[in-house]
Amino acid sequence: MKLVIGNDHVALEMKYEIMAYLQEKGYEVLNIGTDSPDRFDYPVSGYRAAKMVASGEADGGILICGTGVGISLSANKVRGIRCCVCSEPYSARLSKQHNNTNMIAFGARVVGIELAKMIVDAWLEAEFEGGRHQRRIDMIREIEETQNLTER
Ligand code: RB5
Repeated sequence: MKLVIGNDHVALEMKYEIMAYLQEKGYEVLNIGTDSPDRFDYPVSGYRAAKMVASGEADGGILICGTGVGISLSANKVRGIRCCVCSEPYSARLSKQHNNTNMIAFGARVVGIELAKMIVDAWLEAEFEGGRHQRRIDMIREIEETQNLTER
């Protein structure tokens, strides 16, 4: 499984730790974030990573900035992306099971490294449950594609 990882300057150290953690587990990790401590605009990483997930170049994506908010908002502007900011593993797991998230984000200023690893594990180990949840994802897609939602 191929994962893309993106970050801004705030999340440099955490990115390297999460990359190493994933590589040890056997994941291929594509690093598209900044590798410099200089200020870096999170939308650049969010966009680049999201495009790779949307195109199928990566099977999923992990984004880290200070809070996880800006970088996830940027990723979610790319068609087909469902990216969720999580500060704990429960939401990470449910975001895959119910919302079929294809990217996850968290904040290097919000969670410590051990919690970040638990979030990543919960998300990677979970599977989309389909069924009634697919219908709701179809509704999200409709909003994305038409800026409208037909009454059901
Ligand atoms: C950078 O200072 C900070 O705004 C960024 O890392 C992130 O938290 C934005 O959402």
